[in-house]
Amino acid sequence: MQTVQTIDELKQIIEANKNKTIGLVPTMGYLHEGHQALLNRARKENDFVVASIFVNPAQFGPNEDLDRYPRDIERDLKIATEAGVDLIFNPTPEEMYPFESGITIQVGELSTKLCGESRPGHFDGVLKVITKLFNLVQPTKVYFGQKDAQQLAIVETFVHAYNFPVQVVRVQTVREADGLAKSSRNVFLSEVERAEAIHIYKALTLATENWKQTKNVDEAIAVGKAHIEEHTSGKIDYFEVVTYPLLQQVSEHADQLLFATAVFYEKARLIDNILVDIKEV
Ligand code: PAJ
Repeated sequence: MQTVQTIDELKQIIEANKNKTIGLVPTMGYLHEGHQALLNRARKENDFVVASIFVNPAQFGPNEDLDRYPRDIERDLKIATEAGVDLIFNPTPEEMYPFESGITIQVGELSTKLCGESRPGHFDGVLKVITKLFNLVQPTKVYFGQKDAQQLAIVETFVHAYNFPVQVVRVQTVREADGLAKSSRNVFLSEVERAEAIHIYKALTLATENWKQTKNVDEAIAVGKAHIEEHTSGKIDYFEVVTYPLLQQVSEHADQLLFATAVFYEKARLIDNILVDIKEV
C-alpha cells in the first residue's frame, strides 16, 4: 500500500492506473469496522482501491469538534493495509485548500432537514471535499455508509443532478454487538453514556415497529422519543421520519422511509437511522 499526502503524487498514481476500475472510500480516519465494510466492498468490486483520510475543516462548524476529532494515522494505515487498500490519500488542510476561491457549493433544501438544522454549512463542506476527491481520483465507484443517511442522500442527488461519472454504492450500517452504530465519535462517550447509547437504536427499532402496525408517523415518533428520554441522559436533537432519499414529509408515494435521530451526549453527538422499504411492509 502506498500513502501520499500531496495532490501531485496522487494525480501521478491515478494517471498510472487510469485503465483500471477505481474504487474510492472517503473517510476522516480513526477507522473502525464501519469503514472496513466500505473498504472490503471496494476491494471486491474494483481493480484499484483508494481511501482518503482527511478531517475536513470545511464541514465543521465553529463550535464543533474539529480540534479534538480523534486521529490515529498509524492504526488507520494498518487497518487499510489489512483491507487490501492500494493507495491512501492523507493530505493536510493546506494541501487540500491552498487558496480560497470564493466559489461555494450550496446544498439548499436537502440540508435544511435532520442534521442540517443543527449543523449549518456542514453538508456544503462535505460536497466541497467530495467534489475535489471525485476530480482527483476519478473513481468508477464511490462508497458511502447508510449510517450517515442524509450525507448519502445528498451525495446521490448531487451525483445524479450534476452528472458526475461515478456510481455511488450504499453500504449498510455496521453495529456493535449490542446494536450501537459504530462511530469514530463513540470514544467520546463516558462508560455510563456508552451503556445508555444502545437505546438510540432500540428507540429507532421500536418506532419502526410501531409504524409498521399503526402507519401513524406521529405516534411512532412519540414512541421513539419517549424511549430515548426514559433510558438515556442524552438530549434529543431530532427524531424524525421522512421519505428517502428526498427527505420530505411522509406521503403515500414514497418507496422508503427514513427513521432518523440525533442525540447529544456530554462530548459527542450521535446519529443513527433505520431505512424501511414501504413495499415490503
Ligand atoms: P467518516 O465519518 O469517517 O465516515 C466515512 C464513511 O464511513 C461514510 O460514508 C460513513 O457513512 C461510513 N460509516 C461510518 N460509520 C459507519 C458504520 N457504522 N457503518 C457503515 N458505514 C459507516 O462521513 C465522513 O467521514 C465525511 O463526511 C466524508 C464523507 C469523508 C467527507 O469528509
